[in-house]
Amino acid sequence: MKLLIDEEGRKILVKENKEIHTHQGVVKKQKLLHGKVVKTNIGKKFLVIEPSFVDLFERIKRGPQIITLKDAGIISAYTGVSSGWKIAEAGSGSGALTCYLANLVKPKGKVYSYEKRKDFLKIAKENVEKFGLSKFVVFKNKDISNISEKNLDMVVLDLPNPWEYIKQIEKALKIGGFLVIYVPTINQIIKAVDALENSSFKVFKVCEVIERDWKVGKATRPLNVILGHTAFLLFSRKLPL
Ligand SMILES: C[S@@+](CC[C@H](N)C(=O)[O-])C[C@H]1O[C@@H](n2cnc3c(N)ncnc32)[C@H](O)[C@@H]1O
Repeated sequence: MKLLIDEEGRKILVKENKEIHTHQGVVKKQKLLHGKVVKTNIGKKFLVIEPSFVDLFERIKRGPQIITLKDAGIISAYTGVSSGWKIAEAGSGSGALTCYLANLVKPKGKVYSYEKRKDFLKIAKENVEKFGLSKFVVFKNKDISNISEKNLDMVVLDLPNPWEYIKQIEKALKIGGFLVIYVPTINQIIKAVDALENSSFKVFKVCEVIERDWKVGKATRPLNVILGHTAFLLFSRKLPL
């Protein structure tokens, strides 16, 4: 895959060795080398570059609601997830968080991704393949209550009822390992906190991330429309004392 960018910064993700139909004419089939400028039949220019992780993430195929980059980012910030980690997550959904985590744990780490619905698992697998990350992900068409891994560095739950799986997750994590819960309502956070009180988990952070983008130029100001709310995040660690 290659990314074409026009003079206004608009991006098109394209397959190589094909004629490309854009909003500004047709680019004939040719070798798309990184850094090359190609022209359409009506003379519009596009710069060819290798797509970055974020270019691919912005164009991910969507089934179930995906995690946003702002929320994925804070998960890595407060857990320090890095190369070599072994992580389990549920559910895979569209595989957006799977891709984000696999990109961080590669080349030696693994993401074990549980999803109970076959149709969603198919979307997640396709997305992970598009990112070239399949080697670092093990998909399981199972309910997370059947988690079989041990000694994990982290588990992330992005599903409606995380409080039901605390006992199983506790067995799967190493001492000091992280459990991150990602849910849209504070009612769910409260239920999760209650369940964690009867376990070896210590909650160290509950938050939401509010991102406000700005329009810059002659009239610099915040954008009129912002994404008001995505989800709450709960961060905890297995600390049996
Ligand atoms: C909001 S989506 C996850 C989105 C995903 N994090 C992403 O970024 O693309 C929630 C998913 O959890 C799955 N799910 C719900 N309960 C589950 C369970 N107990 N075990 C495994 N998957 C589950 C649902 O089928 C759904 O696909």
